[in-house]
Amino acid sequence: MKVDVLLGLQWGDEGKGKVVDVLTPKYDVVARFQGGPNAGHTLEFEGQKYVLRSIPSGIFQGDKVNIIGNGVVLDPALFKAEAEALEASGHPLKERLHISKKAHLILPTHRILDAAYEAAKGDAKVGTTGKGIGPTYTDKVSRNGVRVGDILHNFEQKYGAAKARHEQILKSLNYEYDLTELEKAWMEGIEYLKQFHFVDSEHEVNNYLKDSKSVLCEGAQGTMLDIDFGSYPFVTSSNTVCAGACTGLGVAPNRIGEVFGIFKAYCTRVGAGPFPTELFDETGDKMCTLGHEFGSVTGRKRRCGWIDLVALKYSVMINGVTKLIMMKSDVLDTFDTIKACVAYKVDGEEIDYFPYDITEGVEPVYAELPGWKTDMTKMQSEDEFPEEFNAYLTFLEEQLGVEIKIVSVGPDRAQTIERYTEE
Ligand code: GDP
Ligand code: IMO
Ligand code: MG
Repeated sequence: MKVDVLLGLQWGDEGKGKVVDVLTPKYDVVARFQGGPNAGHTLEFEGQKYVLRSIPSGIFQGDKVNIIGNGVVLDPALFKAEAEALEASGHPLKERLHISKKAHLILPTHRILDAAYEAAKGDAKVGTTGKGIGPTYTDKVSRNGVRVGDILHNFEQKYGAAKARHEQILKSLNYEYDLTELEKAWMEGIEYLKQFHFVDSEHEVNNYLKDSKSVLCEGAQGTMLDIDFGSYPFVTSSNTVCAGACTGLGVAPNRIGEVFGIFKAYCTRVGAGPFPTELFDETGDKMCTLGHEFGSVTGRKRRCGWIDLVALKYSVMINGVTKLIMMKSDVLDTFDTIKACVAYKVDGEEIDYFPYDITEGVEPVYAELPGWKTDMTKMQSEDEFPEEFNAYLTFLEEQLGVEIKIVSVGPDRAQTIERYTEE
């Protein structure tokens, strides 16, 4: 068996949570492979809305096993709050949520360091989610991290050493902070975490594959936020791309099956950093209002703009996308004209590839297509799609060279249309 991977192709918030939930009935196992509580994955069904941060989005579909892989960074305090809220809403987790012993712990001081580094950057700040993601991955790579498995062995000593090191850094930055409340909640989170199955998830996942069980790997953030291929340094600190599923779960590259690449019919970004197609006018405001473009974790207003096919083509290439999924089509229902960026103008020259640096001097070149001016939200099948909408899909497929297999027309689980193009 192979694993399938589902990931974002833009700057995150494409709608990964919704689609993982929709696809989960076809799988035995859902596994998160990177990121942490910087993610906010929203699901809606039966009139209820849930936002997941560290827990995989397969948790609402029957008794499927959900795994938090070794590539994830976990904050015990935030995890406790998230898990308790789910259990209180009638979704028991303890038996079916497995956590890799190799996942790294976000310490209270990692969160403080995140804030301190951002403050030190001044105007050049990344606009992080403030969840300690960068400092935790930094400690992982510099071989100073504390892992979930450490909770069971010599934990006090390992925690104390990491905390002391962080406090030294904070002192050198002259950063004022109060650890008391954060640390108290964190320690309660550690105790809470002990009830869960700590696993060697690389063995577990590979054993599932050996037993012909199907696994869906859930990405967080998006390709444009990838530490290597995103708009560096305005990125997150993990590999959000398909290869991240290999390192974040212990799955060999030849075990990757389908790669589902998700994108919005337009584009958003939250936090700082370049965004060539960003709109600063009433069209951008309209996308924001109709798309409810406010961060699911931080509540920050998301910047909005037209779809960027130069960046998307790059994402398709880096991830080896085999199937595309287009989200939030309904947000463009009332637009007269839809624009799509097909090239960048850099120094007066038109280029159609994603360049080294998009920070400055990148001007989008647009193709224009007629809007469909139809309410898509109640549609049940692609037979109902208006001609202009089909033309937009065909245009995107031609540009990106991959078929769009699923179209989402609203936030609810039911507002999802699978297209029956031939295999
Ligand atoms: P994720 O981080 O990729 O899981 O995406 P988020 O949950 O952060 O953001 C996506 C937002 O769009 C959520 O509020 C979803 O409920 C909503 N959403 C998902 N698909 C659609 C859609 O097709 N149409 C509309 N209008 N909203 C959608
Ligand atoms: P999901 O999984 C959108 C952005 C932050 C910031 C940058 C670095 O919901 O799509 P970090 O806290 O990771 O160090 O912040 O990355 N960012 C996201 N933007 N969706 C996300 O996750 C994000 N996770 C991080 O806004 O610009
Ligand atoms: Mg999100």
